[in-house]
Amino acid sequence: MIRHVITTLAVALFVPSQLFWLWQIRALGRKFIRNPQLRRLLGWLGLGIYAALLAFNLFGGRTSPEPAYLTLRAALLQAPYRWWMLASLLGFLAIVAFYLCERVVGGVFWVFRKMLPTLSPGRGSLLSPARRHFLTKTAVALSATPFAACAYGLMYERTEIETTHQRITLRRLPKAFDGFRIAQLSDIHIGPFMPAEDIRRCAAMVNQLKPDLVVLTGDFVSWEGSPQWAVVEALSGLKAPFGIFGCMGNHERWAHVEDSITRLLAESGAKMLRRENATIESAGERLNLIGVDYQTRVAFGPPGDGIVSQYLQGVEPLMLPEAVNILLSHNPNTFDRAAELGIDLSLAGHTHGGQVTLEYISPSLSPARLITAYVRGWFQKGESQLYVNRGIGTIFSPVRFGSPPEITLFELKRV
Ligand SMILES: [Fe+2]
Repeated sequence: MIRHVITTLAVALFVPSQLFWLWQIRALGRKFIRNPQLRRLLGWLGLGIYAALLAFNLFGGRTSPEPAYLTLRAALLQAPYRWWMLASLLGFLAIVAFYLCERVVGGVFWVFRKMLPTLSPGRGSLLSPARRHFLTKTAVALSATPFAACAYGLMYERTEIETTHQRITLRRLPKAFDGFRIAQLSDIHIGPFMPAEDIRRCAAMVNQLKPDLVVLTGDFVSWEGSPQWAVVEALSGLKAPFGIFGCMGNHERWAHVEDSITRLLAESGAKMLRRENATIESAGERLNLIGVDYQTRVAFGPPGDGIVSQYLQGVEPLMLPEAVNILLSHNPNTFDRAAELGIDLSLAGHTHGGQVTLEYISPSLSPARLITAYVRGWFQKGESQLYVNRGIGTIFSPVRFGSPPEITLFELKRV
């Protein structure tokens, strides 16, 4: 349902946004290119390139096998168009919002003039050339901002990995695990915009943090199963004395690689927990790690999406009542149920922290809020805690803005 709403909304906005920008470019051409023949030639050339890029990205952009390195076609044909798609849509939305606001303000002034004609500033000042000029300049600046922001997000923010240090205080933590360090990697999404080489760099960053344990919370691949060997190989350098554990994400399900990547990761020393638990023991004390496959109550992807009627069904027998229970679940929406069950800590990903977000301005301005209340960072509910990692990869558009890629290092502490 939500998938259809989002798709319909995206198409309904995308078509007018493209017509709007093509019209604007045409107006710019009329202003700056005096020669009508040259203008026409450049216009048709531009339109041809646009149509070719659109067709390529809609019908021929995905290749099988999906490369695990940056290809020329990805760099020259996919990245610029995906940047354009996102930026032009956001720019269009900004301009629509601006003009709607302007209309509302204009309406308020109109009512004000009607009610208090003697005190009103008069129609002339509202529509003065200076005001019109200011409004046009503001609209241009507003609509240009997403293009600059998305270019920054494509070229810079997408590759600037942040390490977050998060202390987790647990009342029942055994003494032997006081100061225990867990590193989390999530949402890798291997592909041309997250090449194996970059994943190896992330693995090296994780190793430098000297974690006791590493957890991988799903979405190793994107749309295609073929780079699963490459992602497993790139992660094979991870080192942690208490082991490497993980869970499956929605993209493993969509690419039909849950079983095969679990096997490959096991061969390279990483254990995926698929409605399973594993105990981590130290000095006769233990932590209980539980992992579940991707599950959702909201149909978002293709059919066979992992839809469940209730989250975390079948998890209770995997819990150890006397131990600290840590859940690896790709979808943070399992947290409410985890809190009900008394799971001490949930580690999730899935949202990419919104990926392109205005959380700097307001926490509610994030597209991930369409699917979850738990977009990024730390949450608490009663005695239960959740951390949502922003992931290191991207999906749809290779752009991150307001949500840099993240490696998290947790330090468990006793109260
Ligand atoms: Fe993801």
